[in-house]
Amino acid sequence: MSKKNSLIYICQKCAYKSPKWLGKCPDCSEWNTFIEEINDGNNSSNNSLEKRGIAALKFDGDNANKKSSGPRPISEIDISSYNRIKSGINEFDRVVGGGLVSGSVLLIGGEPGIGKSTLLMELSGRLAKIDPNAIILYVSGEESESQIASRSRRLGINEKNFYVFHESNWQIILNEIKKLKPKYFILDSIQTTISEEIPSAPGTITQIREVTYEVVNYAKARNMTSFIIGHVTKEGTIAGPKILEHMVDVVIYFEGDQYGHYRLLRVIKNRFGNVNEVGIFEMGDVGLKEVSNPSQYFLDLSLKDAYGRSLTNIIEGSRSLFVEIQALVIDNKYGNGRRTTQGIDSNRLAMLVAVIEKYFGIPLAFNDIYVNVIGGIKLTTRDSDLSIIASMLSSLRSKCVDNATVFIGEVGLTGEVRHVPMIEMRMKEIEQMNYKRVVTSQKTTKMCKGKYNVEMIGISAAKDLEQVLF
Ligand code: TYD
Ligand code: MG
Repeated sequence: MSKKNSLIYICQKCAYKSPKWLGKCPDCSEWNTFIEEINDGNNSSNNSLEKRGIAALKFDGDNANKKSSGPRPISEIDISSYNRIKSGINEFDRVVGGGLVSGSVLLIGGEPGIGKSTLLMELSGRLAKIDPNAIILYVSGEESESQIASRSRRLGINEKNFYVFHESNWQIILNEIKKLKPKYFILDSIQTTISEEIPSAPGTITQIREVTYEVVNYAKARNMTSFIIGHVTKEGTIAGPKILEHMVDVVIYFEGDQYGHYRLLRVIKNRFGNVNEVGIFEMGDVGLKEVSNPSQYFLDLSLKDAYGRSLTNIIEGSRSLFVEIQALVIDNKYGNGRRTTQGIDSNRLAMLVAVIEKYFGIPLAFNDIYVNVIGGIKLTTRDSDLSIIASMLSSLRSKCVDNATVFIGEVGLTGEVRHVPMIEMRMKEIEQMNYKRVVTSQKTTKMCKGKYNVEMIGISAAKDLEQVLF
């Protein structure tokens, strides 16, 4: 077999190439990520991109087609092409930094069924209404035209300039793009689109990179704002959007709880705005709905007088959200107490349990402990430690924690209560939502003294909680 068309194995996570199959990738250390692809004769899987230059990796706005005239003073560079288009879906506009930048390429990733197609369908509908002359092309390799149309009717979208196309061959898609000249282009999804020029199977790393390169290149040259949908799977059986992140302008991941209805749109790369911004949506009968009062969205205050619950405040992007932490502490007669968590790291819980044992003097080996964050939110920071401890104590003592009290603070290994960042934003929200009391660190209390109409209780050690609570 000639070298040109021989088989090669490529890691679908990091694009490492190997002449034989490997269980573990020597480059990124992932297991079972090698897939057989046909060697197109290039030594680097990036080669075809490199040969054609790296135009796709740059953003020049409207100047994409003009020849560069060498370095220029920064003050003389025209930035008028950065005008933003607002879709009217506020949560989305905020996430992308105040509206879409025309000609930009956005990658929307998420697990299958999370709502990517629904979001893009609604976004397309809005754009079609706002800009009736703009042509929108929605290409789906997954759903037929009638499937797409029936969904769009259900969502109340029925615009004349909104074209749908069921196709997975990139060369055919590109032909249609050239004919229609859309202002907005949606590719659903990158994994189902294949380029004839690449011998590898659909969904492989070589294919998704090639097609993304082509989309980016065309988008920049013709000022076509493009959305590329990419599936993310936990198993890593198909190449994920991660590998494409450096090629596009904006990377957004759609997260959510399989069982809950909320959906979080999180931006992790944005050449035109802030990262770590989130948008909050709810999946309902007629598509995605923006959540209008996100700060209270994750609370269910129907069980006012239950044991084992307390409120905390977390920061997601530029938002402050109230969440409820529930704990259930029950006897375990064998002394091998189990710890089960949902929404918080189990190692974190183990540490907080150890703090209770050591500094509160409460042995917990003969207790099973369950801790759950209500609403399906996953806590990624430590500012809820105090609330987790408060909920556990409440369950253990069978006493309620007051509903108007918010617990904010990290707890360290010596049982000390630590200050957490962005306290002003939290306090403003707490005041506005009429909470009466905040239990937090002494440092935080000093910082906020006299500024807010909220009672501040500062404690230096977590063990003081018991006195505050009961
Ligand atoms: P979808 O957008 O197809 O997900 P993805 O493109 O990320 O794979 O969303 C699919 C899920 O959303 C599906 O399980 C049904 C649900 N859904 C609703 O609950 N209400 C709706 O109005 C729509 C359109 C979808
Ligand atoms: Mg879909």
